[in-house]
Amino acid sequence: MKGVLLHGGSGTRLRPITHTEVKQLLPVAGKPVSQYALEDMIACGIKEINIIVGSVGAAAVKDYYGDGSRWNVSITYTHQPEPLGIAHAVGLTRNFAGGEPFVVYLGDNILHSGLARLKDSFEEGKFDALVALCRVSKPESYGIAELEDGRLVRLVEKPNHPRTNLALVGVYFLRESIFEVIEKLKPSKRGELEITEAIQALIDGGRSVGYHEIKGWWKDTGTMEEILDANRLVLDDIERQVADDIPSQHIVGRVRIMEDSSVDGKTVIKGPCHIGRGTKIKSSIIGPNTSIGNNCSVEGVEIEDSIIMDGCVIDGRGEMRLYESIIGTSCTIKKNDSLKKASKMIVGRDSDITL
Ligand code: TTP
Repeated sequence: MKGVLLHGGSGTRLRPITHTEVKQLLPVAGKPVSQYALEDMIACGIKEINIIVGSVGAAAVKDYYGDGSRWNVSITYTHQPEPLGIAHAVGLTRNFAGGEPFVVYLGDNILHSGLARLKDSFEEGKFDALVALCRVSKPESYGIAELEDGRLVRLVEKPNHPRTNLALVGVYFLRESIFEVIEKLKPSKRGELEITEAIQALIDGGRSVGYHEIKGWWKDTGTMEEILDANRLVLDDIERQVADDIPSQHIVGRVRIMEDSSVDGKTVIKGPCHIGRGTKIKSSIIGPNTSIGNNCSVEGVEIEDSIIMDGCVIDGRGEMRLYESIIGTSCTIKKNDSLKKASKMIVGRDSDITL
């Protein structure tokens, strides 16, 4: 089996972060979101992976994943010139698949339970396609699966009156037969080739389409709230890792501090938290549910339920509290006493500030 990992799309719901960052590379507990998907594929024995890249951020994705040798697998790339839909992206991988079965994993989805059970169900059932389903509380916001007598009969995109609460997870096991139906698809109302319509066409054409309800949590990290949720959920599983030379009397619970970082004795860190490499933290209260990237400098600030990306400088002079915040790469946030109650800001398009 081969793997296809999607890194295209527009990421409009994650602006302004996606003006400068690739959404699938946003760090969750110190790792790009899509690396969880890649590692799930590798864990179930997949060694050939094709990454679909869009026009924006392709270089950053290639730079990070390279040829896959870091993971001992082969990674190749397919360029999707425009975000014309998930089924469009899948349609570009026919040569890569070369007649073999393959799994498509949306690079902004994280599954707690991985792929192994799903792959087994797909192979045991000898299905043309297998979808992963997860019970959700707001089914009207998702693609929903309808079952009859235990068989999958219909997939409906964001229904007004959902008949089930079984949402389609962003993982699809497919075979060669999908390419024939994708070739005949017409763009939907939103102008995209929809994967739900492609799979519906398989069902309507009498092909066998299976499903597997996943256990454990699933996150589609398409919005800021979902990225922060994913960060909390992944951090919930980390192990404590604090080097001996770091004063640990105020470092409580599951805190992971990577190499070459320092934390002074006036700092309190409440787990779960991830602190990247080469980061310096002084006189601060960090956590819980906070990930701080590599090479950051953090001083005099309280940070809770947040993601701070690489290379940020935050200096709060003991009077700054950040919560539910996502701070992009190389940002500087400083408290300046001489400004009294005023704020000085250089803020890019679509930014979101609460003071
Ligand atoms: P979506 O989150 O549905 O779409 P989007 O990335 O355009 O985001 P937004 O709605 O906020 O503008 O995409 C799901 C996944 O599929 C995501 O990882 C991006 C990927 N994708 C592609 O690779 N190519 C595409 O043409 C589309 C639409 C999505």
